[in-house]
Amino acid sequence: MKAGLIDSKVEQKDTYPLMGSLPVYKMRASTPPACFLVRSGRNPDERIYTGGLPVSEKERSLQSMRPSSPANGYPLDPAAGSSGCRITRASSSNYSHQPVMLSEVLSFLGSIPSGYFLDATIGGAGHSKALLELREDIHLVGIDQDKEAHAAASDALADMNGRFNLVHSRFDRINDVLDELGIDKISGALFDLGVSSYQLDTPSRGFSFRKDGPLDMRMNKDAGQKAEDLINNSTHSELAQILKTYGDEKHSRRIAKAIIEARPLFTTSQLAEVVIAAMPPSSRKFPGHPARRTFQAIRIAVNDEIGILQTAIMQTIDRLETKGRCVIISYHSGEDRVVKRALRTAAGLKNTVPKHLPKPAGNPAIKLLARSGQTPSEDELIKNSRSKSARLRWFEKAEV
Ligand SMILES: C[S@@+](CC[C@H](N)C(=O)[O-])C[C@H]1O[C@@H](n2cnc3c(N)ncnc32)[C@H](O)[C@@H]1O
Repeated sequence: MKAGLIDSKVEQKDTYPLMGSLPVYKMRASTPPACFLVRSGRNPDERIYTGGLPVSEKERSLQSMRPSSPANGYPLDPAAGSSGCRITRASSSNYSHQPVMLSEVLSFLGSIPSGYFLDATIGGAGHSKALLELREDIHLVGIDQDKEAHAAASDALADMNGRFNLVHSRFDRINDVLDELGIDKISGALFDLGVSSYQLDTPSRGFSFRKDGPLDMRMNKDAGQKAEDLINNSTHSELAQILKTYGDEKHSRRIAKAIIEARPLFTTSQLAEVVIAAMPPSSRKFPGHPARRTFQAIRIAVNDEIGILQTAIMQTIDRLETKGRCVIISYHSGEDRVVKRALRTAAGLKNTVPKHLPKPAGNPAIKLLARSGQTPSEDELIKNSRSKSARLRWFEKAEV
């Protein structure tokens, strides 16, 4: 354990909304860095330390983030992550994910003011690593609710000593995460929504309709209901609504009926078989796997992916400094609709405020730098078919 942690006074601070029994402890270190740890109720020995972030002035903190200052002043020990803090490691050797629209992300974020960059969905750190390589004056705060992503990100960023903090959290807690790290304003942010290829391709995570595994689908394996609970306990109308809203599934009602008749269901293969059998023969063909939309819808519901998006966007807008920039990549029309509406409202564009309500006073909070979303290039679509539903939107914080 680090000197800064041994001497720390531990004080219970808060509870992650999704994580149920995960108390967050704020560490009062006698000297910087201010660190905090997340302790799992299920396995109290499992914890993630993040931190090492000088909390007062930006200047001072940016200095201590330089690679010449490993672990933000503390020597690394073998169990420490490359941020200089101890990290409970899941194996990252199988982690694979190709960052989507990387060159577009870098061209939009490459000129952000120096300071703190928030990657709200760090995954394997594909985008963020490239940004840190491009800009030495940026310090990364990476959030992910999946601990396996942390192990991968930590490996990917191994040669970026002292330039990042990884936090196990959900992105609707951006304000709490930044407050805990003593960060006021950020100069840029990225949301690369949805799941990683690693999550999709790992059968034990339960996201795959092609490989057998338990019906889990939680990004945070420590908390929340599993897909199995949702599927086996929801009513017909609840299931049909989920499939229609989050999966744009035309046959939502008949699939919901078939699920109810076949349940209890415990594995991804069982669910995929029920869905395929429930579809009219003409719909079992193209495009894509017949169960794709059902799996997407259940995954979105299990992780409340759309419900928390607007909150996260509003917190980000509030935290961005003037001329700070944010990129949001969504992969589903329902997701993109929430993003588009939130951004148009913040940009003060027409048709977002009902006619009978007064227009918001004051200047708009953001400038939308392109009105419509951007999609991947032909070249990227050929190289990475999983990028095909991506839609990128970006904006800049306006002067107040
Ligand atoms: C598409 S991947 C990001 C990949 C990353 N940009 C890269 O280049 O490696 C999305 C990641 O966001 C995480 N995630 C999704 N929703 C989240 C949420 N609400 N809060 C925190 N993490 C989330 C997932 O666990 C996953 O690791």
